[in-house]
Amino acid sequence: MSTDDIVILTGAGISAESGVPTFRDAGGLWEGHRFEDVATPEAFARDPVLVQRFYDLRRAALPTVHPNAAHRALAELAARWPGRLTLVTQNVDDLHDRAHAEAPPGAGFELIHMHGEIMKARCTASGVVMDWPGPMAAHEPSPHHPAGRMRPHVVWFGEIPLEMDRIEAALAACGLFVSIGTSGAVWPAAGFVRAARAAGARTVEINLEPSMGTHLFDESRLGPASVEVPRWVDELLSPPQGARA
Ligand code: OAD
Repeated sequence: MSTDDIVILTGAGISAESGVPTFRDAGGLWEGHRFEDVATPEAFARDPVLVQRFYDLRRAALPTVHPNAAHRALAELAARWPGRLTLVTQNVDDLHDRAHAEAPPGAGFELIHMHGEIMKARCTASGVVMDWPGPMAAHEPSPHHPAGRMRPHVVWFGEIPLEMDRIEAALAACGLFVSIGTSGAVWPAAGFVRAARAAGARTVEINLEPSMGTHLFDESRLGPASVEVPRWVDELLSPPQGARA
């Protein structure tokens, strides 16, 4: 464990102020749909027209939103932090990616989209992932495999999140774990704080309200991400009192 190694987990709350709706603030509905109807492998098999239209609309909306001060503060941290920084996001939007493109990160940085990326598509037969900025047909043929079709590169309910080995290794080695804008309602991400604590890490949550696992955090910073994240990053990057000449 190194105190210089940080793992940050982000959820829908970090993108809320950019205009991307969160999941659990809408009365259990996800942009007007039950998640079983649009975000499961069974839904895709049953009604691919509905599922593809749902993701087409979300993909089309993404260029109209922009990274906010919280995404930009994490990009600044990634550019300046001397240790390892693993940013794990549950969000399928590309707002972290765009913020990091503006402020190139240091060598010890990695961004993991554990629930996939809405602007990418995956071949059901070969698993090949490719950029997919436009709409997708209900039975979109795959250019990679004659028996494949293209589906959104997102993790649906009942599927295993991506890159779990890399995430678990980073959690086991971190000295600081920070959870930002996530309700802590969805596993396995909800369990990351326990893994970090087991590794001896200090744990901090930044959220509008206490998350479901709030008692597992050493520190809770409650407020909008666009205010609280830049404030926390400033403190982390400021030299301790008296260190300046
Ligand atoms: P949720 O909608 O469950 O939680 C969003 C959290 O962000 C809540 O705790 C809000 O209080 C908080 N929040 C809202 N606005 C905020 C702001 N401006 N600043 C700070 N916090 C704010 O979203 P997630 O926890 O990300 O999975 O949901 C996790 C997963 O559930 C998603 O990735 C998705 C969904 O089912 C899949 O699609 C597989």
